[in-house]
Amino acid sequence: MCGIVGAASHRDIVPILVQGLSRLEYRGYDSCGLAVHASARGLARTRTTSRVADLMAQVQSEHVQGLTGIAHTRWATHGAPVVHNAHPHFSHGTGADAETARPARVALVHNGIIENHEALRAALQARGYLFSSQTDTEVIAHLIDSHYQGDLFEAVTAAVAQLHGAYAIAVICRDEPQRVVGARAGSPLVLGVGQGEHFLASDAMALAGVTDQIVYLEEGDVVDLQPGRYWIAGRDGRPAERKVRTVQAHSGAAELGPYRHYMQKEIFEQPRAIADTLEGVEGIVPELFDGIGQDGRTGASAHRVFQAIDKVLILACGTSYYSGCAAKYWLESVAKIPTQVEIASEYRYRDSVPDPKTLVVTISQSGETADTLAALRHAQSLGMHETLTICNVATSAMVRECKLAYITRAGVEIGVASTKAFTTQLAGLFLLTLALAQAKGRLPEADEARWLHEMRHLPVALQKVLALEPQVIGWAEQFARKENALFLGRGLHYPIAMEGALKLKEVTYIHAEAYAAGELKHGPLALVTAEMPVVAVAPNDALLEKLKSNLQEVRARGGVLYVLADADTRIESGEGMHVIRMPEHYGLLSPLLHVVPLQLLAYHTAGARGTDVDKPRNLAKSVTVE
Ligand code: F6R
Repeated sequence: MCGIVGAASHRDIVPILVQGLSRLEYRGYDSCGLAVHASARGLARTRTTSRVADLMAQVQSEHVQGLTGIAHTRWATHGAPVVHNAHPHFSHGTGADAETARPARVALVHNGIIENHEALRAALQARGYLFSSQTDTEVIAHLIDSHYQGDLFEAVTAAVAQLHGAYAIAVICRDEPQRVVGARAGSPLVLGVGQGEHFLASDAMALAGVTDQIVYLEEGDVVDLQPGRYWIAGRDGRPAERKVRTVQAHSGAAELGPYRHYMQKEIFEQPRAIADTLEGVEGIVPELFDGIGQDGRTGASAHRVFQAIDKVLILACGTSYYSGCAAKYWLESVAKIPTQVEIASEYRYRDSVPDPKTLVVTISQSGETADTLAALRHAQSLGMHETLTICNVATSAMVRECKLAYITRAGVEIGVASTKAFTTQLAGLFLLTLALAQAKGRLPEADEARWLHEMRHLPVALQKVLALEPQVIGWAEQFARKENALFLGRGLHYPIAMEGALKLKEVTYIHAEAYAAGELKHGPLALVTAEMPVVAVAPNDALLEKLKSNLQEVRARGGVLYVLADADTRIESGEGMHVIRMPEHYGLLSPLLHVVPLQLLAYHTAGARGTDVDKPRNLAKSVTVE
C-alpha cells in the first residue's frame, strides 16, 4: 500500500527518503518518487514506475540533493500506474498547459482517497489550475496552492478543511525551503523526532535507523516540521501535546536467511511466532488482554469487561476475517458466548442491531486496515464501547483505539500473503476463548491445564507439519498446471478451507473457491471434473464420517482429491485420491496445524508457476484505503 516519508534536516535527506521507501517496499506499490527542495532549482522531482532501487539510481545520476523533501510509494487507486500519476504531485498555476505553467510552488504526497475530488477539481480548473494526472492527490496540491499566502502551515490547514475522505499528506513549498507540513485523517502518519532534524512517515518502520522517537499523530492533526523544531495543531486548530514514544527499532528489510522468499520464511517461522505469542502465558487470566495505555500496560482492565459482556462481534478483513470465523466455533462451543463474525467493509455500511453488552473484537495483522478501523468506529458510534483487538503491531491505530488488546508476536510480516500472522491470531483467539469461558465460570481447572499444555506443545506440532513440505511440493507440481481448485472443510475447518483457497488465488492466480463440504451437492458439484483438483481438510473429528461421504460424492464424479487427513481417519491414497497424513490429531486447535500445508501448497505452486510470491500482482500489504 502507499507509503510516505518526509524529512527536514541540515544534511542531505535524499538517502533517508530512499531508504525509508525501501523499508515500506514490501507492502506493494506500482510507482515511486521523491521531491526535494534543491536550493538552486527550487523543487526537484524524480518519479518512476520501476522499483525503489531504480529511483535511487536515477537520483544519483541526476545528482539530486536537498535538506528538505518528501517521498512516496504509490499503489494506484485513481488513475493508472504511470509516471504522470506517481507522487509527488506539483501545483501548477495558469499557463498554456501543465508543463508551461508557472513553476511549481507546492509538492505533495498523499495516502488515502479524497471522495470530493471531482467537485474540487472542477472548482480549481475554473480558477485556471492545470492538471497533469488522473489522481485525486493532485487536487490537494492545487488546493493548498490556492490557499497559499506565504505560510504553508496555514495553507495546508485551510485546504484539509475542504477535504472529504481519508488522507495522510506531506507537503513542501518552493518558498519555504526548511519546512515540511503533514496532516492526517483516516490514514496513518507519524512524526519522527531527531536531533536537529525531523521526519514524517506513514509507518515508524520507515524511520528505523534514523530515529526511534516517534509521535503517532491523531485524527485531524496538522504538523509543521523544521530541522530545529516541530509543532502540532489538533483537529480544533489549537496547539496539541502528543506523547513522544520510543519504538523498538526494527527494520522491514529482515534477512531472508536460507529462504528464497519472505512467504516461505514466514511459514517456517510459525513455531517461533507461536512460542513468542504464548511467552509469559502462565495461566488463563483476563489481564492478558488488558489495554495498552499511554505508558505501557496500564490501560483498561479486561476483568470487568469480560464479566459484563454477553455477546461477541468480530470485525476483520481477508485472512484476519477467516481467523475470526474459526474463533466463532471456539467461542460458542467452549465459552458458550453467542458470536457474530462480520467482514468489516460490509458491517460498516449495513443497518445492524447494536447491543451495548457486546465485546467488539477486531483482528488485524497491521492494525491499520482502513475498513476494520472504520467498522470499529462504526460499532463505537452505535454505543458498543467494550472493544478488544487481536493485533500484531502494538503501536498501531487499532491498538490505540481499542480498550483492550492482545498483541500477537508474529514479528514483522513482509510477504503480502499473510501466514504467521494468521496462526498467531488463532492462538490469541483461543486464549481469548478460554479467558471468556473462565470469566463466565465455564472453564473447569482441569480443562484450563489441558488446554495450556496443548498450546505449549503447538510449536513442536507445527515443526512436524512443516516436515511434510516435500509431500506438499509433489501436490504443488500438479496444481501448477491447473486453473481452478476447490477447497472443502467442515465445521471449524471450513474457515481453514477458505484461508487455503485465498492463499492459493493470491500467490498463484489460480481460481480457487472454498465450500463447507456439505454444500457441495447444493451446486458446486457441477464444477467437478478431472481437471478440478479438490482439496479437503479432514481432521479426525465429529464430522469426519459426514466429510467422507462428501469426498465420495467428488470421487463418483471423477474429481481428484487432495486430502489432509489425520491418522485413524481410514482415508487412504489410491486412484484419484492423494493423502497427506497429518502427524498429530490436535482437537480444537487443529486449524493451526491444518492451515500450514495449505500455505505451503500455495507457496510452492506459485514457485512452479513463476509468480512474484512476495508481491503478488495488484495486491498490497496493509490496506490503508477503503
Ligand atoms: C491475505 C491478506 C489480507 C489481509 C487483510 C487484512 O493474505 O494478507 O487478506 O489479511 O488485508 O489485513 P490486516 O490483518 O492487516 O487487517
